[in-house]
Amino acid sequence: MKKNETLKDGKIVLIRELHENDLEDLMKFYSELPTEDRKYLRIDVTNKKIVHQRIKLIKTGSVFRLVALYSGEIIADGALELSGEDWRKHQGEIRVIVARPYQKKGLGTIMVRELYFLAIKKKVEQVVVKMMRPQVGAQQIFRKLGFREELLIPDYVKDQEGKKQDLIIMTVNLKELWEELEQSYSDSDWRRCR
Ligand SMILES: CC(C)(COP(=O)(O)OP(=O)(O)OC[C@H]1O[C@@H](n2cnc3c(N)ncnc32)[C@H](O)[C@@H]1OP(=O)(O)O)[C@@H](O)C(=O)NCCC(=O)NCCS
Repeated sequence: MKKNETLKDGKIVLIRELHENDLEDLMKFYSELPTEDRKYLRIDVTNKKIVHQRIKLIKTGSVFRLVALYSGEIIADGALELSGEDWRKHQGEIRVIVARPYQKKGLGTIMVRELYFLAIKKKVEQVVVKMMRPQVGAQQIFRKLGFREELLIPDYVKDQEGKKQDLIIMTVNLKELWEELEQSYSDSDWRRCR
């Protein structure tokens, strides 16, 4: 998969699958994230070995990863993770990170839309996102896309600084997500004008 998308500021970005040989570029992208955005991620993305192991999971067929590039540089990373457990077979978990200079330009929504297309192909029925309570931007975008907060587990996870944080689990079914994505596309001047 390879496609160009236009951001709110007119920049054209390339969205494609992540490959194993993107490791160095991915490390550069992660290393440039502000501590505030990196702090609440579930793994230490500055650790090359851990990031490499995570990329290799693509080969298992249960993880799909997308990146957005501008001028050849990775500016966003997205993942869809399918559950190997029978009782959660209908679920897919998604994650998105956008580089600070490219945030609030619609790229997070574009990445979720592409992950949605993947989820459809994989016959996912329900999309799940998990985040820590301070990730307010993420909660905002997922709420806008129809996700509902299903569960808040107090002090359930630790951030990268070792501080306990509440975990928030949000879900949406694919039909509702598509309705919100469509709405967000038809409401948006920048997308209408493309
Ligand atoms: C969450 C994140 C991916 C959103 O990416 P983005 O490219 O800024 O998202 P979009 O531009 O598509 O924004 C979608 C909506 O959310 C809103 N939004 C985005 N960030 C926000 C913030 N920090 N506070 C409030 N609203 C925010 C936007 O204003 C937009 O609404 P609009 O269409 O009415 O303007 C990005 O902030 C990020 O990478 N955060 C750090 C990592 C993270 O928390 N990831 C989520 C883990 S699953």
